[in-house]
Parts: sequence; C-alpha cells; structure tokens
Amino acid sequence: MGLLEGKVCVVTGGAGSLGLAAARRFMAEGAEVVLSDLNMEGLETAQASLEGGKALLLPADVSSSADVMELAELIRERFGSIDVVFSNAGNFGAVAPIADYSETVFDSVYAVHVRGGFLLAKHLSPLMGRGGSFIITSSVAGVRGDPGVYAYITAKHAQVGLMRCLAKELAPRGIRVNTVHPGPVDNEFQLAVERGLGVEIGRDGTEFFNEMIPMGRHASSDEVARSVLYLASDLSAFTTGTTLMVDGGMSA
Ligand SMILES: NC(=O)c1ccc[n+]([C@@H]2O[C@H](COP(=O)([O-])OP(=O)(O)OC[C@H]3O[C@@H](n4cnc5c(N)ncnc54)[C@H](O)[C@@H]3O)[C@@H](O)[C@H]2O)c1
Repeated sequence: MGLLEGKVCVVTGGAGSLGLAAARRFMAEGAEVVLSDLNMEGLETAQASLEGGKALLLPADVSSSADVMELAELIRERFGSIDVVFSNAGNFGAVAPIADYSETVFDSVYAVHVRGGFLLAKHLSPLMGRGGSFIITSSVAGVRGDPGVYAYITAKHAQVGLMRCLAKELAPRGIRVNTVHPGPVDNEFQLAVERGLGVEIGRDGTEFFNEMIPMGRHASSDEVARSVLYLASDLSAFTTGTTLMVDGGMSA
C-alpha cells in the first residue's frame, strides 16, 4: 500500500518543476492530485508527462482571493475534504541595491509567496477536516540573507512565520504544518537566476553556487520531492512547525 493511498493532495505551482515532481511522487504513492497553477498551458503539459494517472487541473492565481476561494469551492465539490496542501507557487523578482529596488517587484513577490500561502491556508485548511499536512516551499533563502535579493529572501523568511503560526493553530486538529527549504535546484527557475548572476560577476553562476554547497552540486527536483513526500505522509506523523532543509548543507 502506498504512503498516500486514498489521500487527496493539492499542489500549487503545479505546472513548474518542483510542483510536478511532487505530484509524481504523490501519485506514485496512491494519492489523487489537484494540480493548480497560473499557467493552464503549463498544467496541460505537466498532465501529459504524468504516468499512471490523471491529476485534476485547476488554474488559479494564488495571490487572488477570488481565485483561491473558487479553487477551494471546486475542490470541495469534487472531493469533499483534502489531506495535503503543497503551497509551492513562486516567482523570483529581481536583484538590485536597496535604494533602486522596485516596489512593484517587491509587492509582486510578496503577493505570490506570502499572500498566496496565507490565502491557501485560509481557504483550504477548512477542507482538511480529517487532519493532514500543509507544506510550504520556502528556500535556503528563507534562512540566510544576501545583498540585493530583497523581495525573494524576505518573502521566503515570512513564509516561515506563517508556517509557525499555522502549526500552532492547526495542531489540535491533527494538521501538521512545515516548510521545506530547497537549496539551488538544477531547473530553469534557478538557472535563470544564475545566468543573470554570471553576467554580473563575470564567471559561471552555477559553479559559484556549487562552491557554496558542501555537497558540491544542485538538487534534482525529485530529491526535493522526496522530502516533500516525507512531510506529506505519516512518515513525519509527529513533525510540525519545522523547517526542513534540502540544501546539500548550504545552510549548515
Ligand atoms: N528552483 C530552485 O532552485 C528553488 C530553490 C528553493 C526554493 N524554490 C521554490 O520552489 C518553488 C517552486 O519553484 P520551481 O523551482 O518549481 O520553479 P518553477 O518556475 O518551475 O515553478 C513555479 C510555478 O509557480 C507558478 N506561479 C507563479 N506565480 C503564481 C501565482 N501567482 N499563482 C499560481 N501559480 C504561480 C508558475 O507558473 C510556475 O509554474 C517556488 O516557491 C520557489 O521559490 C526553488
């Protein structure tokens, strides 16, 4: 029997690299999966790459209250209740000195990571009647600072605050809440950042990051997904309020 047999799991950022990798792991363990994302075309491409089952595809902008309420309603009509939420949608924003940092970019990054996580918890946790697991994708950027990365790093820290509040409120209902903190992943989200950095520092941005990682390399999306599966399943039955680093030792 799979680790998530009979469970319903909702994944945001489901058209992206980590969301899809987690959905694959969840489905392989017997879960029914709702894949949600801003990008409907991306969701259809993701669906086509899933083997051994179909996810329910529901487009939603996690920063929109109306979209998240509609998402919750559609999920309630289809499943009644849910067991796992993987709040994972993300955008990177920009890197700039504080005096030049765009307020618009700052707000747009907060809207996805912080407001998005808040809205998902507000509207989806009431559907987690039987207990369950709420997982938020923070980052190694949620536990360290770096110059210029104002929106992303502060938003990733704020997600930890949200997680800690939720963990305490929802524990009496048997709902566990944790953050997962990937280091650099070998996917387009990170590689785009590294290409920009490479131009700025005049050397290979990927190598620059690898030198900061004791294990000397990036994670694969599936390595992150396996840690998400641990938090989603009863393997972590007494784990709540924690920050799980999946960063090859970068934050050690
Ligand atoms: N890639 C890395 O190295 C890395 C490291 C640490 C943390 N993370 C975090 O992991 C999460 C997933 O990133 P990824 O690497 O899979 O990148 P990705 O770009 O492949 O996936 C992110 C997905 O989020 C979706 N999205 C963006 N804004 C949205 C919104 N408002 N509403 C709904 N969906 C939205 C995008 O359409 C995209 O499909 C993000 O929160 C990111 O910050 C990534």
